[in-house]
Amino acid sequence: MAGFQEKNGILHVDDIPLPEIAEQFGTPCYVYSASVIRDQYNALKEAMERALPADRQPLLCYACKANSNIAILKLLQGIGSGLEIVSEGELARGLKAGFKGQQIISTSFGKHEAEIEACLAADILQFNIESPEELHNINDTAARLNKCPEVVFRLNPNISGGGHAKINTGKKENKFGNTSDDIMDLYALAANMDHVNPVGVSIHIGSQITQAEAFKPGFEKLAELVERLRDAGFSVTCLDIGGGFPIAYDDNEELLDLDEYASWVRDIILPLDTKIQMEPGRYMVGNSGVLLSKAQYIKTTPSREFLVLNAGMNDLIRPTLYEAYHGIRPVSGHNREIKAYDVVGPICESGDIFAKQREMKTVEKDDLVVIQSAGAYGFAMASNYNSRPLPAEILVDGDKICVINKAQKVEDLMARETIPDWL
Ligand code: LLP
Repeated sequence: MAGFQEKNGILHVDDIPLPEIAEQFGTPCYVYSASVIRDQYNALKEAMERALPADRQPLLCYACKANSNIAILKLLQGIGSGLEIVSEGELARGLKAGFKGQQIISTSFGKHEAEIEACLAADILQFNIESPEELHNINDTAARLNKCPEVVFRLNPNISGGGHAKINTGKKENKFGNTSDDIMDLYALAANMDHVNPVGVSIHIGSQITQAEAFKPGFEKLAELVERLRDAGFSVTCLDIGGGFPIAYDDNEELLDLDEYASWVRDIILPLDTKIQMEPGRYMVGNSGVLLSKAQYIKTTPSREFLVLNAGMNDLIRPTLYEAYHGIRPVSGHNREIKAYDVVGPICESGDIFAKQREMKTVEKDDLVVIQSAGAYGFAMASNYNSRPLPAEILVDGDKICVINKAQKVEDLMARETIPDWL
């Protein structure tokens, strides 16, 4: 049995009942299913295989900002994924997990010298460029190290895509990318530099893009730009078409169809006769994980019933930050009455709320409760706010379990702090 399913009234992850995990490792903790990650990777790969010829398959570069645990990275590296990174830390994680430099692309926004040097030392596949200053910085750093990396320029197509204003990246008021005109100039600038090799263009217009009409015009703008660059005599051999593919957060959600998406790649990108890269993050891992927590209290006020979990917004910030919907359900008790709760955490902020007036099976004190679809941008965005230790991460594969990241302890929180001797 793969993924999260109910068996005898108890929610399991693969073959393991979640109460066993809670008992062994405590709560809150993140629990991931390896088989779901493999299935997601394969679903995307197979959709591309159905749409594109064998010799034109894209390199799927997992955007590890979604979940950068080195065990998850190793799993994806083992099944043939590439990697998209945005920091020196993510590069180090990728290398530790076994990715080769030539499987890694760097798309970070404010690339600094130490990060560029580390990427050059690892001989990464390419840098995706955000600005002229960044291009100069890479050229200068590469000159010092006697390298000549491939670079592509990120297009800002002025198209809105993404599940929330904070995760849209493709409008002209966003900090990301460059206009087509600016990329013409950047290409010319790069062509005159000795230590960068301009090879193409990239695009990434947002995350959790549910609007079918968003991807296609983005690809069309990319294609127009390729024609312009070629007409001006530049060589374009690589197109990075970004990430942003959505997942279902709600069981009833109708989503974009992968085959439809792949057909746009076939119709618009394929004829341009370049290498193709993609940067999927959320799609690979989002549905692979839950945040397993315990009902600490049920607090009843004259207007509400609050289900107080022992997980808080520091463990999973998405509902607070983006008003994101996550399914929430008790691990057992499936034949109980339905009730509406405000599901909250223990943090001292009213924003520490996972769901308002959410209907679910009645929950009793000490029951286990999962917040679903938490595998992407869950642990990766967790913090120590309110001096709460980070939760453990646990990977399950069939009947195998591994704590892939130990829970922090209270003493870990102060391990790097110092009281000056003059106080
Ligand atoms: N490529 C670039 C350049 C990106 O900036 C991102 C995500 C991705 C790829 C991967 O996008 P995905 O396939 O995961 O949609 N914390 C937010 C999401 C922020 C996404 C940032 N960039 C959330 O929890 O919804």
